[in-house]
Amino acid sequence: MKAPESTTRAISRRNFVKSVGVGGAALYVSSLLGPSRMWAAEPADIGQCKSVKVRCISETSWFDGAQFVADVKNAGGMSTNQYVVPWNPKNSGGYSALVEVEALNGTTRRFLLDTGWNPAWMEYSYQREGIDDMLRKGEIEFLFLSHEHLDHFWGLPVILKYRPDLKILTSNSYYPEGRELIKKSGHKGQLVVLRPGGVNQLFPGCAAATFDIPIILRVQGEHALFFNVKDKGLVTVTGCCHMGVLNLLKYGQENIQGSPTPYGLYGGLHICPFEQWDEKLDPVISGIAAMKLQKVAANHCTGLVAIQKMIASNIPVVQGTAKYGSHSNLCIGNGDEVVF
Ligand SMILES: [Fe+2]
Ligand SMILES: [Fe+2]
Repeated sequence: MKAPESTTRAISRRNFVKSVGVGGAALYVSSLLGPSRMWAAEPADIGQCKSVKVRCISETSWFDGAQFVADVKNAGGMSTNQYVVPWNPKNSGGYSALVEVEALNGTTRRFLLDTGWNPAWMEYSYQREGIDDMLRKGEIEFLFLSHEHLDHFWGLPVILKYRPDLKILTSNSYYPEGRELIKKSGHKGQLVVLRPGGVNQLFPGCAAATFDIPIILRVQGEHALFFNVKDKGLVTVTGCCHMGVLNLLKYGQENIQGSPTPYGLYGGLHICPFEQWDEKLDPVISGIAAMKLQKVAANHCTGLVAIQKMIASNIPVVQGTAKYGSHSNLCIGNGDEVVF
């Protein structure tokens, strides 16, 4: 694959960071509700594709949310460096997905989104889905890392064991521990650094947007993916969505040429990750409903309570099968897939 084409566009980073913020639960709310337009620049032409299929390899980053929160609290709270928290290893899983994009000419391009966390869990998950063979056979073009959080990044050695020369798309905002992890994992392939603050076309119909924002557990920056699906509209795929789901949806609509109609959404939406609903989050659900998406496959850190509220608001939630450790059929879970 060619390096991402330089469609990066300037945005007002200062304004975006102001609207997103870092931090604890109180700040999640402001991070989810954004101003209607945060920057001014010409929308980017990212081309079109025919369809996008996302297969959930694992969305269970932790199996017990209360244990995860206790680990964070005992280590000093949400601003603590993730690399020094004594995580309970029995509670870790990971987040990773296989993305398959059908081009307008019928060919398919395939890449991985994120690596998961617990190596044993990810080894089981990748082998269960046949990802190990796909990597060995060179059927996966690259790994797209959404952000440095442990549950999306620390499973890297497992992927590189199958394919050390895999191209990795990442950012330059990783902490020294993260850069060391890439090195120690035996990476021998190309490392593509996505520039923050704009839309990077990866290939026709597929683009990444990079948000250089401070995030909980001392992480900086998150990328999200946009797909412009012919005759359908805009599909947004996220890791954790720390930039805020409404911010992200609006960003895609306003910064991709042709303002494609919002059509689909996949991934962790970080609305209520630990299931304690606050009525201040109600406008997030009504905001998503107002986008009139046709398919919403929310999982991971979205929170089941948030998904239940989406269903109650007639948002077309795509449900799964609750297998391989996923807790509920309300979300696209481990081993499930969705086609946009
Ligand atoms: Fe996550
Ligand atoms: Fe995250």
